[in-house]
Amino acid sequence: MSRIDQLRSRLEAVGQSHLLTFASDLSESELAALVVQVEAIDLHQLPALIDRYVRSEAPASVPNDLEPAPYYARNARDWDARHYRALGEDLLEAGRVACFTVAGGQGSRLGYEGPKGCYPTAPVSGKSLFQIFAEKIRGAERTYGADVPWYVMTSPINHDETRRYFARWDYFDLDPQNIMFFTQGTMPSFDKVSGRILLAEKGTIATNPDGHGGALRALHVSGALADMKRRGIEVLSYFQVDNPNVNITDPVFIGLHAAAPDSSGEMSSKMVPKTGPDEKVGVFCRSGGKLHVIEYSDLPSSLAQARDANGQLRFLAGSIAIHLLSVSFVDKVNADPSFALPWHRAVKKVPYIDLQTGQRVDPKEPNAVKLERFVFDAIPLARSSIVLETDRVEEFAPVKNATGVDSIETSRQLQTEKAARWLEAVGVKVPRRADGRPDCVLELSGVTAIEPERLDRQSLPQSIDPGSVVAI
Ligand code: UTP
Repeated sequence: MSRIDQLRSRLEAVGQSHLLTFASDLSESELAALVVQVEAIDLHQLPALIDRYVRSEAPASVPNDLEPAPYYARNARDWDARHYRALGEDLLEAGRVACFTVAGGQGSRLGYEGPKGCYPTAPVSGKSLFQIFAEKIRGAERTYGADVPWYVMTSPINHDETRRYFARWDYFDLDPQNIMFFTQGTMPSFDKVSGRILLAEKGTIATNPDGHGGALRALHVSGALADMKRRGIEVLSYFQVDNPNVNITDPVFIGLHAAAPDSSGEMSSKMVPKTGPDEKVGVFCRSGGKLHVIEYSDLPSSLAQARDANGQLRFLAGSIAIHLLSVSFVDKVNADPSFALPWHRAVKKVPYIDLQTGQRVDPKEPNAVKLERFVFDAIPLARSSIVLETDRVEEFAPVKNATGVDSIETSRQLQTEKAARWLEAVGVKVPRRADGRPDCVLELSGVTAIEPERLDRQSLPQSIDPGSVVAI
């Protein structure tokens, strides 16, 4: 039996032989590429995966003992932030901390051609998200007198372009030796009715990146983890590519992660109080003695609405996808042969080749199921995991959509508001409108300062003119 016939019979056994429909139309090299793609799929697992997640929508199994997660409240007196700050600064000064940006997503809601990290985001200069982070890293390296290596996870759809972009901008004055790019894994995309894997071209399977949770495996497989160990990195500061306001080297958070009595120093998270019961963010909960993030769509409405005696939401702690992961934790989970994060299903529009006509179809309605892993599903694998409250303006300005909620417009407003607060904190007069919003557009580079206390008052203006547009 030829190699193709063997493959066909293996595919038939799992209901996917249609992938070879156009085999005879392909050149030798196209066919070889298709075979490589098919052989990379774990065919054994496929039927069970399709039954559970593609053809049916398995109800999320939410534990019935959910309690709100405890958290370290901002500005609280029952813990000593100064102590943890000092510990975090020690780790930064010793060069034990690296940044980790997950940038492998498709950014479909934003509708931007190109990697989302290249999107012009800063409110005055239009600097890209990658440049904003690069400048924060430069600021942190100068402040702490140590390297802060940067790991950037891409996916096959944007890896080359991301690399070219950094090279074109000369790595934004960072040492290229300290930036490592690696790709995450992919999953086939499935027709949502039949459960068949879609063809993107006659000889190419439609795939999607396997979610930000794919990072845990990709860190290991790519050699990034080994690189961290070589450099003596202990803590990874994880953030998403679409949040320009994140504090990427927060010494208090790092200190708590490393030394809080209830932290195993494996995986920690930041939260912001939810704006209301219906805000679409995951919520930190406790169950079975472990910390979990429950997606907003899975949290029973009675819990989402529940309030305590003070009228505050009981399940208040919203996840903003900011975590610390220790290198040894990522190593530990990868060493476990049974390690696998659960899949989550998303129904999306995926172009495909019609098997009858051989023509490409651009669906008008969502036709496909994508399977993704989420990074927060790793939290319960930690022995004991802590949550730190942070301020929404200070750390959460996501760019998800072209317009409306969590759009470039709201992100730029939040970046201006954050800069305004920092300037006001050192006595610069910032004009504000009657509703309290800044009457100006502001931008503060991470090279200028990484924390408001570190702003050099002497080099700042006394005041900002109403209606002005200022980058500092
Ligand atoms: P989102 O869930 O917002 O997805 O990713 P997205 O792909 O960027 O955008 P949409 O949903 O298609 O509009 C949150 C973060 O996780 C990263 C993204 O790059 C972003 O930083 N991510 C997401 C990955 O790195 N890999 C993935 O497979 C998915």
